[in-house]
Amino acid sequence: METKPEIHYGLEGVYIAESGISKVDGTLGRLYYRGYSIDTLAQNSSFEEVCYLLLYGKLPTEDQLNDLDKKLKKERAISEDTKGLIEGFADKLSPLDLLRTAVSAAAEDDSKPYSDNEAENVEKAIRIIAKMPTVSAAIWRLRNKKDPIEPDSNLGHSENFLYMLSGEKPNAEKAKFMDVMFIIHAEHSSNASTFATLVACSTLADIYSAVTAGVSTLKGPLHGGADEAAIKMMRDIGDPKNTESYINEALAGKKRIMGFGHRVYKTYDPRARILKAYLERAKDSADEDVRKLIEISLIAEKLMIERLGESHGIWPNVDFFAGPLYLWAGVQTEVFDIIFASSRSLGWCTHIIEYWRNNKLFRPLEVYTGELDLEYVPIERRS
Ligand code: CMC
Repeated sequence: METKPEIHYGLEGVYIAESGISKVDGTLGRLYYRGYSIDTLAQNSSFEEVCYLLLYGKLPTEDQLNDLDKKLKKERAISEDTKGLIEGFADKLSPLDLLRTAVSAAAEDDSKPYSDNEAENVEKAIRIIAKMPTVSAAIWRLRNKKDPIEPDSNLGHSENFLYMLSGEKPNAEKAKFMDVMFIIHAEHSSNASTFATLVACSTLADIYSAVTAGVSTLKGPLHGGADEAAIKMMRDIGDPKNTESYINEALAGKKRIMGFGHRVYKTYDPRARILKAYLERAKDSADEDVRKLIEISLIAEKLMIERLGESHGIWPNVDFFAGPLYLWAGVQTEVFDIIFASSRSLGWCTHIIEYWRNNKLFRPLEVYTGELDLEYVPIERRS
C-alpha cells in the first residue's frame, strides 16, 4: 500500500525559494528589508529610497535617488483609457476589483509586456509602482463622482497620493505618516499575494499579469482586507466601554478578531509597534469619532494580548492600528486595501524580478482521494 505523503496545508512551514529581499523574524518580531530594520527605515527613509533599496539591492547615492524619483514622477500619469475603464465600472466593482482590472490593463501601452531582460523588467516595475497610487486615487474619486486629480510632481510619492485623493496638500505630519504606511506595507517575503505573483511569473507570464494575481490575492479579509474588517469591528463596538464585553463574546463564540494573529509572527508584529506609537500621538489631534476608535483599539489590544498573546501566540498585526490612523489622516475605509496593494506592488515586482533569475515553474502535487477506473455509463442510462 502507498504511504500517504505529508500534506502541508496552506504551505505552512514550506520553503519555496532563497531570497535576499526581506527577512521576517517571527520569533523576535523583527522585519528587515535588504538587511535594514523596518524601524530604521520607517524613521529615517522615504518610500522612494526604500523603492531603490528593494529594486536595486542597496541604498542609493543622492544622484541615484534623484534619478529614480524623476522616473517615478514621469510614470505617475495614467491614460484616458484607464480612467474610462475605472469610470465605466466605478459603481459596479469594489475599489480593489477596479484596481485589479486597471493593473491588468496597464500593459496597454507596453509593446513588449514580457521581457527576459532584468533591466527592462525593473523599468516596467517602476511604471507599475508609480501608477498604482494614481489609479487608486482615481478609483476613490470616480466612485465618489469627482474628477481625478493629476499628479503633482512637486510632491513625494505618498504625499502626492494623499493630494490626489483630496485635492489638498497634506501637512508634514500626515505626509510622513502616509510615507511610513507605504514603507511598512511595501514588502513581507512570501505572503499569500507575493506567492501568487510568483506562481504567475513562474509560467513566464509578464510582470503585469503577475502583479494582477497579487492584487487579486490581497483582496480577502485574511490578508489585505483585515484592516477594513478591524475598523468595522471597532465601529460595531461603538463605545470604548463596550470593548471588553464585545471581545469576550467574540472569543467565546470562536470568532476571529481581525488585525490579530499571523502565520509567521508569534509575537508583536514590528509594523504594528510602529503604528501604535503613531496612534498614541494621533489621539490628541483626532476628532471625536476617530478618538473613540483609537481608544477602542487600545483597549482591545490590551485585552487580546492578555487573553491570547503569550498563551496562543496571537498578537496585533499591521492591520489592527492601520484603520484608525488612516481615518485620522483623512483616508476613507474603502481606500485601505488599495493603498496596501499600491505599496505592496514594490514587493511583488522585486520578488518577480528575483524569481526570474532562477525560474522554476510552480507545480505542487495533490493526494488524490477519489475513485479510479469507473465504468463510463452513457447519459441515457444514468439514473
Ligand atoms: N482571533 C482569534 N483567534 C485567532 C485569530 C484571531 N485573529 N487568529 C488565529 N486564531 C486562532 C484560530 O481560531 C485557531 O484556533 P484553533 O486552533 O482553536 O482552531 C488558531 O488561532 C490558529 O489559526 P490558523 O488560522 O490556523 O492560523 P494561521 O497561521 O493560518 O493564521 C491568520 C494566520 C492571519 C490567517 C489568522 O491569524 C487570522 O485569521 N487573523 C485575522 C486576519 C488578519 O488579521 N489578517 C492579517 C494578517 S497580517 C497582514 C498580512 O500580511 O496580510
